[in-house]
Amino acid sequence: MSLLQVKQVNLSFHSRKFFIGKNQTNKVLNDISFSIEEGTCLGLIGTSGAGKSTLGKVVLGIQPPQQGQVLFQGFDLYNTGKAIQQKIRRDLQVVFQDSYSAVNPRMTAERIISEPLENYEKLSLGELRRRVIELVERVGLSEKDLKKYPHQFSGGQLQRINIARAIALKPKLIVLDEPVSSLDMVTQSLILQLLSELKDDFGLSYLFITHDIKAAFSISDRIGVLEKGELIELYDSKEPFFHSKHPIVIRLRDSVLAEHPRSRKLATRVNMV
Ligand SMILES: Nc1ncnc2c1ncn2[C@@H]1O[C@H](COP(=O)(O)OP(=O)(O)OP(=O)(O)O)[C@@H](O)[C@H]1O
Ligand SMILES: [Mg+2]
Repeated sequence: MSLLQVKQVNLSFHSRKFFIGKNQTNKVLNDISFSIEEGTCLGLIGTSGAGKSTLGKVVLGIQPPQQGQVLFQGFDLYNTGKAIQQKIRRDLQVVFQDSYSAVNPRMTAERIISEPLENYEKLSLGELRRRVIELVERVGLSEKDLKKYPHQFSGGQLQRINIARAIALKPKLIVLDEPVSSLDMVTQSLILQLLSELKDDFGLSYLFITHDIKAAFSISDRIGVLEKGELIELYDSKEPFFHSKHPIVIRLRDSVLAEHPRSRKLATRVNMV
């Protein structure tokens, strides 16, 4: 059984135009189906407004679709009892693009990382402290960073704190919604490397949402392409992305190649895979 199964999900947002009094329907997800196996990363590539974050919210259980099902470990996220929902909430975590708005600015890093452990596990103060130190060190920071407030970290460091919080409960699946998009190139690659290591060490699975093909390729086992609410391509590996004749995929490929005109001739597979 797959860890996550998304089955024929449809979602529209309805809005009312005030002046003309007409209802407008914006179809954001159109018959989306895919699955994620335990220990693997599905990279979901799409341009702005494609519906990536909305799909991430559907998978997290916070945006119910009008049609379709999301099964996590076989349980229907939107149609299950409280006890199972509680367990699923532990096993499903998220890291967002904007590391600063994801945290409470008045909390120290120690409080931020402790929060999920306090909510879900009954630990002694000593044990809690030990676990938090272990986590902060695992993401490449040190014990003395635990005293700091969010504004005292760089964007990359604060994203490490967010990652420590996300892995605190040893979840099964993490939705990574553009987790490196606001960081510089060097920091991006360090954080992607950390995420890859954590995936292997903890047997994590990721839904890696991005508009950045290179980032997606560096971490994903499989690739899907979302365009205007439709999953237009879904591959079992990364390679077929390079051979796809779909005009949208060609445009996405070209947009990356265009950054490096001289390297166009090099099939870029070496760089990307
Ligand atoms: N709560 C909402 N109410 C109404 N429309 C919404 C809502 N959330 C998202 N949308 C619309 O759904 C569409 C998809 O938005 P979404 O944020 O999922 O795109 P995205 O692929 O994550 O884009 P980006 O790369 O810019 O983050 C957009 O047209 C957006 O305006
Ligand atoms: Mg988004």
